[in-house]
Amino acid sequence: MLREARSVVVLTGAGISSESGLRTFRGGTAASAQDLPADMRALWAEFDPQTLATPEAFEDDPDRVSRWYDWRRLGCLHAQPNPGHLALAELEKRMTAAGRSFTLLTQNVDRLHQRAGSRNVVELHGNIIEWRCTKTGRMVQLGAEPLTTFPTPSPHAAGALLRPNVVWFGEMLPEAAVLAASRAVQSCDLFFSIGTSAVVYPAAVFLHAARQNGAGAIEINAEATAASKVVDVCLRGRAGDMLPALLQAAIRD
Ligand code: OAD
Repeated sequence: MLREARSVVVLTGAGISSESGLRTFRGGTAASAQDLPADMRALWAEFDPQTLATPEAFEDDPDRVSRWYDWRRLGCLHAQPNPGHLALAELEKRMTAAGRSFTLLTQNVDRLHQRAGSRNVVELHGNIIEWRCTKTGRMVQLGAEPLTTFPTPSPHAAGALLRPNVVWFGEMLPEAAVLAASRAVQSCDLFFSIGTSAVVYPAAVFLHAARQNGAGAIEINAEATAASKVVDVCLRGRAGDMLPALLQAAIRD
């Protein structure tokens, strides 16, 4: 299927970054919590993304939510792209060199795809590396050091704070990202769902839209998910093993 595809769309979720040591949100092979600072370990134990990753949580306790996100930001900066990320970057390079189309939609906010060399990346949930002013929306580039003041005052407006440039539950997805993703899905002939539980809107919708347009579909996941029944092929295993193998198989000729 991959050899014959003219236009590929890949949707990734937290599972592809778990082999880089970053935690997933639901089930799967989450990295160990042992390396967390004690207060963050407690937060992970009680962490429910549906309640902590919300504008309301930030409003109620901006100190706690900022600390949490800054700790995660540093985790992403220190993590390294793994063979799954690298194989997708290589696949894009080969497909575009051959005049074929490749679009990577990601729900991940860690920027590991870009650091692996992927170029046509659509960030559906923003990213955790950049933060923005709550009043003006202006982006602020943070350094590699932890922030020192929580909540963090914005340099751009008196009384405003900095918040991560991620999409929280209840917030709109970036319009440009949804548009780019929808366009790519409309015209793809092969869709991959990789390392995602495929339950959070609009990720789930993209797979169904691709299927309705007649695209083939492949899932790569450590476990069965909501997507498993909808795809043609389930590759059950770790993305870091499956993707390099798939790449090798697809280019061997
Ligand atoms: P989830 O945590 O919901 O799902 C991770 C998936 O990755 C699970 O299906 C695991 O079985 C699978 N998995 C784990 N390790 C894997 C590996 N090494 N190789 C392949 N698969 C593996 O993460 P997402 O689907 O990304 O949204 O979650 C979607 C959104 O929900 C996130 O972007 C976040 C969250 O709440 C927001 O924060 C808005």
